[in-house]
Amino acid sequence: MYLTNKQEAILKGEEGWAKKKCLEIIVGLGEIYGADRLIPVASTQISGVSYKTLGEDGLQWVESLATAKVVVPSMLNPAGMDLCFWSEMGVSEDFAEKQMKVIRAYERLGVITLCSCTPYLAGFAPRFGEHIAWSESSAVCFVNSFLGARTNREGGPSALASAITGLTANYGLHLDENRKPTVIVKVSAELRGLSDYSALGYLLGRMVQQDIPYLRGLPSLSVDEAKAISAAAAASGNLALFHAEGFTPESRGGVKEVGERLHIDDRDLKGVYDELSTIRSGKIDLVAIGCPHTSLAELKAAAALLKGRKISPSTKLWFFASLPVKVLAERLGLVDAIEETGGKVYTDCCMIVAPLERMGFSTMAVNSAKAALYAPTASKVDVVFTTLEKCVDIALEGRLV
Ligand code: F3S
Repeated sequence: MYLTNKQEAILKGEEGWAKKKCLEIIVGLGEIYGADRLIPVASTQISGVSYKTLGEDGLQWVESLATAKVVVPSMLNPAGMDLCFWSEMGVSEDFAEKQMKVIRAYERLGVITLCSCTPYLAGFAPRFGEHIAWSESSAVCFVNSFLGARTNREGGPSALASAITGLTANYGLHLDENRKPTVIVKVSAELRGLSDYSALGYLLGRMVQQDIPYLRGLPSLSVDEAKAISAAAAASGNLALFHAEGFTPESRGGVKEVGERLHIDDRDLKGVYDELSTIRSGKIDLVAIGCPHTSLAELKAAAALLKGRKISPSTKLWFFASLPVKVLAERLGLVDAIEETGGKVYTDCCMIVAPLERMGFSTMAVNSAKAALYAPTASKVDVVFTTLEKCVDIALEGRLV
């Protein structure tokens, strides 16, 4: 791989240990994947923030880089708790103390502590064609597919290494030839709400695996719908880019016919709700909305469904949003409207990376296929995957309805 004199000097340690280690990570990845050179990135988004997933070794790695500073705008994935209201959530002091050590370690590096999987809803949307190094899989799939930015699915360490060096290796989805659709997927299923788009994404990820799909037949693709597909497809099958006819900027002019064709219909979609739900009846401890983090429009829709009603005292209804979205929702009166019914809007964290398993929850309802897929393993809870409307009904009754 070609390296400039400056990059060679960094590898010799002339700009300090931290930068040398970070560049070694990037060059190492570039060599594995056959990159020809390193390219500059415009921003990074770093996973490995919740102490639940990062652990002590991860914390020590971040702290060990303390002599360095990030050189491009860099944000974080969700942490394990709301950084202000963790006690109200029921997070232990011990966990909170360790979580705040992680946050402070990133702060010392100059990272913007926006802890969200939807930075593109919070002022950090990359431009078309821009090279970036992001690691949250749902955000990677969204920005590649919907905005035309270019990023591989980075791990937390490689995204942090890019933040500190401003570089990534030129391979994978940074290259034109790897971004072309390779399989057509015809969608004839009727999509009635965000959870249907999430179910569609789940099927898509599972179906295509190594391919890049070109979706035909989508009636609409709003930002929220695109984020629902992206999150589920990235969770079920490592998908980092899809094309949707009429919506993906890189394929606006259409594509040449590609050989294979797959199909998703109503029956396939309905099957996802059954497949991902591990319970069919009984009490629900937590209804959790916001995987990926909610938009203003989602909070508005939920507030309208909840209007004039009270949620059951035996359950909790939690929404997860980025901090900027919550602030705007407060100004619109949406947070008050939700909290008057007994719900809560939390920031900085989510239902998967919060330590739910240590907080007394054993059953959860979600409208996200990604959350439903991950929760039984990540948070040791039984789960029901359903629509937003049904999630609200469950919260009102405190049990499956
Ligand atoms: Fe975001 Fe957590 Fe879901 S990071 S995509 S809300 S699992």
